[in-house]
Formats: sequence, structure tokens, C-alpha cells
Amino acid sequence: MTGHPVGMLDSGLGGISVLAQALRDLPRENYVYFGDTAHIPYGDKEPQEVLRLTRQGVDKLIAHGCKAIVIACNTATSVAAQQLREELSLPIIGIEPALKPAALLPGEGQILVLATQVTLKLPKFQALMERYGDHAVPVPCSGLMECVEDGQLEGERVHTLLSELLSPYLNQPIKAVVLGCTHYPFLRNAIAAFLPAGTPLVDGNAGTVRQLGRRLEEEGLEAPPEQEGGQVTFLSSCEDPQTIARMQTMLQTAMNEL
Ligand code: DGL
Repeated sequence: MTGHPVGMLDSGLGGISVLAQALRDLPRENYVYFGDTAHIPYGDKEPQEVLRLTRQGVDKLIAHGCKAIVIACNTATSVAAQQLREELSLPIIGIEPALKPAALLPGEGQILVLATQVTLKLPKFQALMERYGDHAVPVPCSGLMECVEDGQLEGERVHTLLSELLSPYLNQPIKAVVLGCTHYPFLRNAIAAFLPAGTPLVDGNAGTVRQLGRRLEEEGLEAPPEQEGGQVTFLSSCEDPQTIARMQTMLQTAMNEL
């Protein structure tokens, strides 16, 4: 099993920001990435539907021989990670909004937590709020992932939407912004443009990849030393070849810019 790939999934392109981090930090592993592009967005759906779709995606990755699964989607993790861990024996690693590291940063002011409606309303995030949420302000960001899916990482559409979403909070000091959806690291520059220079924008990608490394080690599943690694296979629920081409382009963007 050690030579088998790690599976990663997201509703679409967002999890590619986690994949890029994994290629950097765990370069001897090979990866299969599944984007459920036919069913975006997850963040506005009923949790039962997100659970059904996530289970389908995980089954697809298991059928491709994956030895561990990273749910590279905050929304799907909130809904499905615990349930799937109970159902399956392989390691399932999730991602959550990086509120804890943001809360532990020095400084004063609000912590804006940008995420999907589903992520923000479920018990997993509520538990995080109870522990680290003293200065946290949840900001549901409907419509933002679609900008990334459409390749709009800057420009008028993104600027107008971000202005609507962030304006209510900009007249108070901001300590940090949590990028609590794996699509949002692709919008880091567009978001930073609304904030005082130097405001930290925190995502959960590095923490998630550290957890993947720990789980592989614990289970004796790390890639064998002779494996070169770094191979990526893209799968999508959209049949058209352009979707796979877009995934490859996003991975280049993530490797070069994030
Ligand atoms: N990338 C996903 C996340 O981290 C969700 C985007 C969506 O499908 O709404 O939450």
C-alpha cells in the first residue's frame, strides 16, 4: 500500500491549493485529485447532499487505489469527515478554518472568518468558535468560490463581490483574516487589497498537510524511499476535457503564486 497515491477531493478547483502545499511538503507521495465540478458549489447545499456527494468522491478515490484521503474542502469536512472515519478504515484527513492559529497571533482587532454558509453553521465550526472565537466574525461568502471556478482571480467581478462582503467590517481594526474555504487562497491578493498592509491572511493548508504526514507515518503508509513522487492524476465529475486542463493550469498557478 505504501506506493499507492494519496487521494484529495474538493467540490472543484479549491483543493488544488492544498494539493500544491502537499507537493511541496510531501514530495515523495503521488496524488489523485478529484474535483466534483458538476456539483459546485457545496457551500450552499443541504448537508445531507454534501455528505452524499463527498461519499461518492471518496469511493471514486478508493477505487483508484488511494491509501489515504484528504478532504481538501472545509465544507465537506464539516459535514462528512467524522461520518466517513466511522465507516472507512483508511486515514481520512480534513481541513477546518484556521481560527486557532489566527487567534494565537499577537495583536488586537477582529478576526474575519471567510467561509461558506454550510461551514459556518455546522457544529464543528461552532465548537471552534467556543474555544477561539472571542474576536471572530463569521463572514459567509456566497458567490466567491464561483469567481475562482470561472478563473476570475482579480478584476471587477471579484472586487465588487469582495467589497459587498467585507465593507461592513472595514471600519474596525482587523487582526487577521481566515481563509476558511480552500478556494480563497487563490484570491489572497484580491482580498489583501481591502486590508491594511501586513494584515495576516491565514489558511489551513500547511496544517492539513502536516496532519496528512503524521497520519501516513502512524499507519506506516509513507511512500517508499525509492519512490520519486510528485505525480498528479486529475479526475472530475465533469466529462469535458477542458475541466481537466483548467485543473492543471490552477495547479501551476498554485505552485507559482501561493
Ligand atoms: N472549497 C470548498 C471549501 O473549502 C467549498 C466551496 C464550495 O463548493 O462551496 O469549503
